[in-house]
Amino acid sequence: MTAILLDGDVLARRRFDELAARVVSLAKRGVVPRLATVLVGDNPASQSYIGRKHENCAELGMASDDIRLPGDIPEDALIARVEALNADPLIHGVLVQLPLPAHLDEGRVGEAVSPAKDVDGLHPMNLGRLLAGTPGLLPCTPAGIEDLLRAHDVPLAGRRVAIIGRGMLVGRPLAMLLSLPGTDAEVTLLHRRSSDLAEVTRQADVVVSAAGQPDLVTADMIRPGAAVVGVGITYVDGGMVSDIADDVAQIAGHVTPRHGSVGAMTRAHLLSNLVRIAEAG
Ligand code: GUN
Repeated sequence: MTAILLDGDVLARRRFDELAARVVSLAKRGVVPRLATVLVGDNPASQSYIGRKHENCAELGMASDDIRLPGDIPEDALIARVEALNADPLIHGVLVQLPLPAHLDEGRVGEAVSPAKDVDGLHPMNLGRLLAGTPGLLPCTPAGIEDLLRAHDVPLAGRRVAIIGRGMLVGRPLAMLLSLPGTDAEVTLLHRRSSDLAEVTRQADVVVSAAGQPDLVTADMIRPGAAVVGVGITYVDGGMVSDIADDVAQIAGHVTPRHGSVGAMTRAHLLSNLVRIAEAG
């Protein structure tokens, strides 16, 4: 048996088409959703992520500003720039690409983004609303993963979900999202200090790995028929490798492709947040 592919590229294309229709409706009201991204320094992976976000905006008929700032910018100057974007009525969404150079405090910079324009859904106000059970703008990768699972009819209510990686971009907010009343998954959040990952993952109906370690999740760690989502991507010899080993496809019921496919879902939910902000106008 070979697992069904959880193909985020295909689903994201559908989500982009749905968003494009909403962008057309907004245009009739004279509103063009506009995203501003801020990239500090010249991290090559960040440049490519940012590039794809702008390509998607253009494809969907939305406007975007690609702001590039020098890697040695002082923190106060960066925050002043973010505050100017917050105050600009033509801009609906503001995103500061992570990671930031080491001299900048990501927490302080992230808090400078207006919670109302926080397309990433990573401002403490939006994370706090998720924790409180009254979600505002959702973090994009967790929302994309939930969408990917639901679109493939993977049941979540009452099911065991093991998440590897407790970072603020994926693992921790995903644990909050899937355990919300109404979604009702039974979530275990694992990380590099967990004593026995495999013992927990073998019990799980859904395994999500956001650790960024190639081949971390192997077939012997997976219950037959489980759904397995690889979020972590590592660049090896010019190619991208997922946290999920090839042999997992022989035993899982559903699995993401080897090259990963959650990135497109992240962008689809980023642009969904942008359209939502523009619609709320
Ligand atoms: N760096 C890697 N992923 C992300 C993301 O989703 N948002 C931001 N702002 N930076 C990132």
